[in-house]
Amino acid sequence: MSKKLPFFNKGKNIKNDFIRAESVPKHVAIIMDGNGRWAKKRGLPRIAGHKEGVNAVNKIVRAAHKCNVQILTLYAFSTENWKRPASEIEFLMKLPKEFLHIYLPELMENNVQIKTIGDFEALPEYTKEAVQYAKDQTKNNDGLILNFALNYGSRYEIIKAIKQLMTDVNGSKVSIDSLDEKVFSEYLYTQGLSDPDLLIRTSGEMRLSNFLLWQSAYTEFWFTDVLWPDFNEEVFLQAIEDYQYRIRRYGGV
Ligand code: FPP
Repeated sequence: MSKKLPFFNKGKNIKNDFIRAESVPKHVAIIMDGNGRWAKKRGLPRIAGHKEGVNAVNKIVRAAHKCNVQILTLYAFSTENWKRPASEIEFLMKLPKEFLHIYLPELMENNVQIKTIGDFEALPEYTKEAVQYAKDQTKNNDGLILNFALNYGSRYEIIKAIKQLMTDVNGSKVSIDSLDEKVFSEYLYTQGLSDPDLLIRTSGEMRLSNFLLWQSAYTEFWFTDVLWPDFNEEVFLQAIEDYQYRIRRYGGV
């Protein structure tokens, strides 16, 4: 008999009866897309969409925590996002601080650990400071890992890994013969984290946009037309329910 999560039987319109506790994806990664379009539809500036997007982040962190997802990776800023207008970049870079200022106490209470992937050093000081503080405060928490991809690009990550690996081979720390997928994975930002089981992209776009290219080799993809600021627990649970119907063969039969 599969065990149902009691939490899921509460919501009125939440299609939840089929969520099984034992097959909740361990690692969910999300490309949070559509903030600009959400704002445009309302005649608002793009940054209004990003601001509303922070509320959606909070909702999904709570939902992920409640249904025992172990890792939630959120694509908050890509290495390509530096091409945006300076004012929008500045706004985006201030969001982590704003989010953590409001929600860090709740994250602590819920035993959430904050992590990041991406080129952290290149972030503005005010972003680094707020995020580093949250990482330090939550480092001993062993509940949900809330992993922000900040200034993250998968190709850069892979090149960086190769450079470090070559340095280690030249320094005889690693032998070429010992190199395999497991060893290589340890050179990536996601070192120590399992690969995503489920990757969600909002806003109707269906591409990876340089996100977790190596790590998503066997990930299940789920797309929705819902724009990120409208993304909520109900849609998240729908994604999990659909995931639970997928048959993962990893190339086998
Ligand atoms: C893509 O939508 C979204 C982003 C580049 C930023 C995502 C950031 C958030 C949702 C907030 C992050 C919150 C925290 C706490 C770090 P877009 O602007 O490209 O939308 P569009 O395609 O409709 O223009």
